[in-house]
Amino acid sequence: MAHAIQHDIVIIGGGGAGLRAAIAVAQIDQGLSVALVSKVYPMRSHTVAAEGGAAAVVRDDDSLDKHAYDTISGSDWMADQDAVEQFVAEAPQELIQLEHWGCPWSREPDGHVAVRPFGGMAIERTWFAADKTGFHMLHTLYQTSLKYDGITFYDEWFATKLLVDDGRCQGVAAIELRSGQVRPITARAVILCTGGAGRIFPFTTNGAIKTGDGMALAYRVGVPLKDMEFVQYHPTGLPGTGILITEAARSEGGILVNRHGERYLKNYQLGEPLDVHDPRHPQKLTMELGPRDRLSQAFIHEMAKGNTIESPFGHVVSLDIRHLSERTINQKLPFVRELATNYAGIDPVKEPIPVRPVVHYMMGGVHTDGHGATPLPGLFAAGECACVSINGANRLGSNSLTETLVYGARAGRAAARFAREHGPLDAGALEAQAADEQRRVTRQYLAAEKGTERIAAIRGELWDAMEQGAGIYRTESGLRKVSETLDQLHERYQRISIDDRSNCFNTELVAVLELQSMLDVAGAVVHSGLQRRESRGSHQRTDFPKRDDARYLKHSLAYRSEAGPPRIEYLQVTVTRWPPAERVYGAEPAEPGSAHGNGR
Ligand code: FUM
Repeated sequence: MAHAIQHDIVIIGGGGAGLRAAIAVAQIDQGLSVALVSKVYPMRSHTVAAEGGAAAVVRDDDSLDKHAYDTISGSDWMADQDAVEQFVAEAPQELIQLEHWGCPWSREPDGHVAVRPFGGMAIERTWFAADKTGFHMLHTLYQTSLKYDGITFYDEWFATKLLVDDGRCQGVAAIELRSGQVRPITARAVILCTGGAGRIFPFTTNGAIKTGDGMALAYRVGVPLKDMEFVQYHPTGLPGTGILITEAARSEGGILVNRHGERYLKNYQLGEPLDVHDPRHPQKLTMELGPRDRLSQAFIHEMAKGNTIESPFGHVVSLDIRHLSERTINQKLPFVRELATNYAGIDPVKEPIPVRPVVHYMMGGVHTDGHGATPLPGLFAAGECACVSINGANRLGSNSLTETLVYGARAGRAAARFAREHGPLDAGALEAQAADEQRRVTRQYLAAEKGTERIAAIRGELWDAMEQGAGIYRTESGLRKVSETLDQLHERYQRISIDDRSNCFNTELVAVLELQSMLDVAGAVVHSGLQRRESRGSHQRTDFPKRDDARYLKHSLAYRSEAGPPRIEYLQVTVTRWPPAERVYGAEPAEPGSAHGNGR
C-alpha cells in the first residue's frame, strides 16, 4: 500500500485559479504546506489560451454598480447579486496586485492602464496584455508561486478520486503519470481548480485537457453541480479547430458580415451599426459587442435564412478587421493574425476571417458559496469548475479571468482557515482508499480482458449527440434523445478497453479516465436542461421560448445517482438591488434602482 504524501492543503489544477489559491494560502500562513497537483505542467493549463482580457473597474466614469449591473443583466438575472457585488468590489485590487507581481498590462501613451470594451459591457473596463492576456497572467502567477517554499508542485499527476473520511474531504488519490502509481495525497482541505468541460462538445475553444475532471470528482462524492444547463457559445471560433478569435477583434472595431456582405446583427436588436471609419467606433458599444448568447443565436437565424457561407467545416460568417490597418492589428491583435494565418490559411490584414459559434465556457460547475466552500466540509472549488454564481445564464467576456483571481484567492484563504481549524487525519483510512483506487484502475483498464468498445467511438458519439441535442437551441425531444444516447454510452463504457497497458506516461489511460468524467458532466448538462422549461441566456428552448421568472428564477442543482438520471433540485437566486428586468442592448444605461429594475 502506498504511503500518504501529507500536506495541509491540496489544490487540484495549476491554472489561474489554482495558482492564485496557492499564493493566497502562502500569503496567509507560510507555515501551511500546499500540494499543487496538475495533470499538465502548470504553464500548459488552459488559462494560457485566454486572449482578450480581464474585467475590473478602473476608469473614473465607470463604477462598481455599472460593472455589477452589466454582469447581472448579462446573466439574464441568474447570477447571485450578493456574489456579483463581492466580485466587482474585489476585481480591481486583484488586477493591480497582478501588476505588482509583474503582469505587463497594455498601457495608454500617458501610462494609464489601457482598457478595451467587451461584449455586453456598457463601458470599457477590460484590462489586457495585447491579445495574449491569459499567457501573461499565468506566467505572472506561476513565477510568483515559485517564491513560496511551502508550495510543492505535482506536475503530471492525474487526480482520480477525492478521499472522503469522517464526513469531510481529506485528500485525493492521484496517478503519478511517470510511474503509473496511484498515491494518496492527504490534506485538511482540498480545492478544485480544474477548469471547465468544453470538450464534451465537438467544436470548442477549450484545450484538450478541459474534460470536466474536477466537476466529476465532486459530483461522484455527492456534491451537486449547479446551473449545468448553461453552456456558453463564443460567436467567433475558427471552423474545424474551434480556436478562439478573441472578442477583442470586435472591440477594436471588427465587424461581422454574412454571405451578402451585410452587417446582419443590425437585425437582432443589438443596437445600430456604426460607421467603421468613424474614429470613435471602437469606443462605441453596440451590435458586434452584444452579449455572446445573443450573437451566437443570431448566427443560427442567419444560417436558417440561408445567409451563411458553407465551408468544409460547416457554415460560417466573416469577421472583417481589414479596416483596422496592419499597424493596429500587429500592435493590438498580433495573436489573431497569427492564428488566422496558421489555422485558417488567411491573413486578416487582407481577407475576412471565417468564424462560427463554438463552445467556450460552462457557466455551471461545482456548487460553492462566496468563499469557494462546497456542501462537503473540507472541499472548496474556484474558477470555471465552480459555480459561485456570478455568471448565471450567460457570462460576460473578460469576467472569467478576473473570477479565477477573486475566487482563487477567496477559496485559498477559506481553505487555509479550514485547515488551521481542523485536526489530524486518519492517514491509514485514506491510504486504504487510495489502494482500492489503484486496484480499481488496474482491474478496469490495465488488467482487464480486451473489451469491445473504444475511446474514440464513444467520445465521437457523445460529441455528435451533444452538438445535435444540447447546442444553441434545444427542445424536449432533442434533449431526451441525447439522454438516451448517454445511457447507452455509459453502458458501453463498461466494455471499453485500451491497448496501452504500460505504467509510464500512459496517455490512453488518462484519455479513458477523462472520458468517464465527460460522460458524467454531459449527463448533468442534459438533465438540468431537460428540466428547465424556459429560455434564458445560453439555454434556449424553442418549445419554451420565454423566460419564466415565476418558475425558474432558480439555480438548478444536479445530484448524481448511482443508477439512472441525476436528481435535480432548485435553489432561489439571490436578488439584492436589481430586480429582474428585460435585457435590452444598444440603449443608454439607466440609473441604478430605477423602475423596471434598472432595465435597459
Ligand atoms: O474573446 C475572448 O477573448 C474571450 C474572453 C473571455 O471569455 O473572457
